Amino acid sequence: MATCLVRPQDSPAAQKQETHIVKFGVVGYGYWGPNVVRNLDHLEEAEVVAVCDKSAPARKKAEKAYPDVLVTDDVSELMTSPDIDAIAVVTPVWTHYELAKAALENGKHLFVEKPFTSNTAQAEELIALAARKNLKIMVDHTFLFTAAVQKIKQLLQDGALGKLYYYDSTRVNLGLFQHDVNVLWDLAPHDLSIMDHLIQESPEAISATGQTHLNGHEDIAFITLYFPNSVIAHINVNWLSPVKVRTTLIGGEKKMLVWNDLEADQKVKVYDKGVNVSGTEGLYNLLVNYRSGDMWAPHLDQVEALSRELAYFVDCIANDQMPMNDGKAGLRVVKMLEAASKSLRQRGALVSL
Ligand SMILES: NC(=O)c1ccc[n+]([C@@H]2O[C@H](COP(=O)([O-])OP(=O)(O)OC[C@H]3O[C@@H](n4cnc5c(N)ncnc54)[C@H](O)[C@@H]3O)[C@@H](O)[C@H]2O)c1
Repeated sequence: MATCLVRPQDSPAAQKQETHIVKFGVVGYGYWGPNVVRNLDHLEEAEVVAVCDKSAPARKKAEKAYPDVLVTDDVSELMTSPDIDAIAVVTPVWTHYELAKAALENGKHLFVEKPFTSNTAQAEELIALAARKNLKIMVDHTFLFTAAVQKIKQLLQDGALGKLYYYDSTRVNLGLFQHDVNVLWDLAPHDLSIMDHLIQESPEAISATGQTHLNGHEDIAFITLYFPNSVIAHINVNWLSPVKVRTTLIGGEKKMLVWNDLEADQKVKVYDKGVNVSGTEGLYNLLVNYRSGDMWAPHLDQVEALSRELAYFVDCIANDQMPMNDGKAGLRVVKMLEAASKSLRQRGALVSL
């Protein structure tokens, strides 16, 4: 395999003439890091050359799985290595900013876990830094790369659901309790990034309520987002649920759909159901007709979302394209999380976005 470092200053023409291998350094080999390393390792156009983790057991695990890869506890080895083109930051949220900044300052493209940063100021600074250095940022909004979300996006774009009424998502299970963030910052980035991707318009205001029961962080939270044209979104996240639920309802004027991510088959079901209202002579004379037609479940492929996402990142680097889940997409999610946190502290007060 030809190895050639992809540098931002390479001309697009020069890049197309050769097969490029984008070389990665991965920081963080805890729960999610091994998934990032495994998927990069499987990509033809990528190579993991180094893994860094502060924890000795995590390093041992990485050494065992990838004996040919440099495993270190010194992050500066990755940041300053001329052999590394891109850094993947797969560490807890509060460490993202420092590590991401170091990566960009050293001229590395950045793949960073969700949520992008702990606040909007950090995200804005990193976006500006990447722009100055002509580097790519991709924020790991993994669900955008699932076949389910891609199909739902297509249905919405094609107008299959008609005028959008609501987006209602439930992401609950027992644990995993995080030590550094509450349930909002842990689970809601998934729903907010999916919602941000699917709904074209931007929300105008947000309200959040929640409660702390065990470790000083909210373990249950309910978020409501108000969009223009009467579109409303609701997100329910909870670490104290006896059962795992991953269900999203999207209602439109023409059709409604249910996405149950725990279903093995038929994750997305599109219902020809709806309500037609006719009559003009006052509220009590309105004719309400309920439409109940067929249900249809589109075929969805089984490709692992993270694999599709990392292949797309490598492609964006090689072809100098801005990823759809770039720093700005990460910033929009952090903005909503910040506003939701503010509302949560005020027991649901409406916060403008
Ligand atoms: N996209 C997804 O679906 C998804 C799923 C789970 C977690 N995540 C995200 O991945 C990130 C990591 O989560 P996790 O569950 O793997 O956490 P984790 O605590 O299991 O693992 C983090 C690892 O990073 C190491 N680490 C921390 N600071 C470091 C530093 N400065 N230098 C080197 N190593 C360092 C720790 O030792 C640990 O091994 C979080 O941002 C989380 O939100 C994303």
